[in-house]
Amino acid sequence: MSKVEQLLIKRRCVMLKEPRSKFMFLMIVILFVIIFAGAFVIKASAAGKGDAEAGKKIYAGKCSLCHGAAGKGDGPAGASTNPKATNFTDKAKMTKSDDELFKIISDGSKGTAMMGYAGSISEQERWDLVAYIRSLSK
Ligand code: HEC
Repeated sequence: MSKVEQLLIKRRCVMLKEPRSKFMFLMIVILFVIIFAGAFVIKASAAGKGDAEAGKKIYAGKCSLCHGAAGKGDGPAGASTNPKATNFTDKAKMTKSDDELFKIISDGSKGTAMMGYAGSISEQERWDLVAYIRSLSK
């Protein structure tokens, strides 16, 4: 095989290879986009939903003292505060959106006994609490 022939064969191989590697590159990019978008959607839906069962456990430990074991706002420390701790079973009073409830749990309600829990309860757990509180008036 002459040197020219060898070179031609080499070039052909490169030319054949090139579209393939471009295709592979594109596939990898698409794969990454899918994985990324998938993870984002899962995270977003998890944050938006919250698990009421998980929220129930946190509630019993940290919220029932004021809001009552059953969420009626009649906990041992809740009835004497001014304003009183919210009764979560009262549908007429549960008019706030999930986002608003989440914000109060996170930042507290200024001028009331309701303090913010952003520093002590994780974001996911605060959404779990929203889901649980919401379930009480259903
Ligand atoms: C020290 C007593 C106390 C504790 C403990 C407490 N809260 Fe409250 N919470 C209150 C009071 C009082 C209010 C009423 C504030 C108002 O009327 O503006 C309130 C209001 C709220 C509201 C707003 C309800 C609405 O519709 O306006 C939410 C949500 C809430 N609490 C969730 C929680 C959660 C979740 C916990 C446990 C992590 C918790 N609270 C622990 C006293 C407490």
